[in-house]
Amino acid sequence: MYMTSQSVTESEQTIAKRNAGYFAAELVEDGMVVGLGTGSTVFYAMERLAEKIRNGMKMVGVPTSYQAECRAREYGIPLATLHDYTELDIAIDGTDQVDPKGRLIKGRGAAQTQERCVASASRIFVVVADAGKKTACLSAPVPVEVIPSAASLAAKRLCEMGGLPPGA
Ligand code: A5P
Repeated sequence: MYMTSQSVTESEQTIAKRNAGYFAAELVEDGMVVGLGTGSTVFYAMERLAEKIRNGMKMVGVPTSYQAECRAREYGIPLATLHDYTELDIAIDGTDQVDPKGRLIKGRGAAQTQERCVASASRIFVVVADAGKKTACLSAPVPVEVIPSAASLAAKRLCEMGGLPPGA
């Protein structure tokens, strides 16, 4: 979902992120299990969810990262894990870029694997983004998460595919 069309100054971008985050939070209904993504836009969604909880809404959040977990705790959002819930009602997450076909580059918040697990467990996946994330053609660096022992192998394979991993 896109909010205001300009995000030229930081304050305009902040307002757009907050609007997008708050809009997504309105999709969460009483009793839902909610995947909580990573990034500043989702943190605004959490801010609004916390408000709804204070007003009596019940929900449980499944965070996608340590950062998301910490922020949710600060907001007093009850938390669970994918061990507790293998099916979530909805997940809200941000993105790094989105093209006109709705294709995304995600993962720059360094929580890619957990984000994918949470998204895959969710019946509804909501991507929140301000207009600054829109691009005619995807061009941002593509985050790749690898296990430490496979870092060199992954770098080699990425080079073979024409990629340019850090340090190559
Ligand atoms: C998480 O891995 C990322 O995809 C973030 O959601 C993305 O970087 C968006 O972050 P902001 O909401 O801070 O722009």
